[in-house]
Amino acid sequence: MAIDLDGVRAVINGAGQGIGAAIARGLAESGARVVVGDINEEKARAVAAEIGGSARAVKVDVRDRASVRAAIGEAVTAFGGLDAMFNNAGIAQVRPFLDITEEDFRVVMDINALGVMIGVQETVRQMKAQGTGGSIVNTASIAGKQGYEPLAHYSASKFAVVAFTQAAARAFGKDGIRVNAICPGVVATDMWKTIDQGFQDNALTERPQEAFETFAAGAVLGRASTPGDLVGVARWLASTESGFTTGQSLMADGGMVFV
Ligand SMILES: NC(=O)c1ccc[n+]([C@@H]2O[C@H](COP(=O)([O-])OP(=O)(O)OC[C@H]3O[C@@H](n4cnc5c(N)ncnc54)[C@H](O)[C@@H]3O)[C@@H](O)[C@H]2O)c1
Repeated sequence: MAIDLDGVRAVINGAGQGIGAAIARGLAESGARVVVGDINEEKARAVAAEIGGSARAVKVDVRDRASVRAAIGEAVTAFGGLDAMFNNAGIAQVRPFLDITEEDFRVVMDINALGVMIGVQETVRQMKAQGTGGSIVNTASIAGKQGYEPLAHYSASKFAVVAFTQAAARAFGKDGIRVNAICPGVVATDMWKTIDQGFQDNALTERPQEAFETFAAGAVLGRASTPGDLVGVARWLASTESGFTTGQSLMADGGMVFV
């Protein structure tokens, strides 16, 4: 039986494109009402318009608590509450380990780790006020399970996502709030274009797509992911079908990292 998200009110951050946009579309197709949040408001609007119906778009910078609160407020105003929150926004940077600067570290940590912490905190406040419980889904990565050398600070930020996921699950289980993470592998999005270019810029690869293809070849299912590959697990985590699962960081990587 297909998962039915009728009545589910969701916010998806980092949903102007890529994985977040696919999740927003997928949840809406299953009946959820969605707030599409992104720092790029134009892209958020385009995704919400394409979804149509009751989808809303908001400009959100996940580093900025007030804007995260406003995105949640949009779900409350438009739909009457919040049942599922996807803290999905993230950035990647390729740097050889010894070249990572303090500024690089802060930039990546601010969006990927601090952004998730703020997203979890503000969601919990809302869900506790509602008294309904709910589902929080953070986007981690294979790099949240393995440290990759030219992505060390990115990997550290994704380990942080896994840690926040576990700690929040322990803290708020009694409130009926489940907290899980999704760990994608190599997904064909703009992020991987940036990573692929970063490998070339640092003379780690010689031709376009080389890093993408090399990493993707590590998936036992034999191909790179598309954003659509993450939709099933996102739907499941947003639904009551996953009602006894919390604190988990679920690999959805085509079989790259076994934990
Ligand atoms: N692409 C992959 O292979 C891959 C693998 C593992 C994990 N991930 C994770 O998946 C998530 C989505 O990645 P993607 O591949 O779709 O990337 P993407 O670059 O295609 O999309 C990321 C989106 O996040 C938005 N964003 C960036 N900074 C923001 C901020 N401060 N506030 C709000 N929005 C912001 C961007 O505008 C963009 O729309 C990220 O957390 C990423 O780390 C991606």
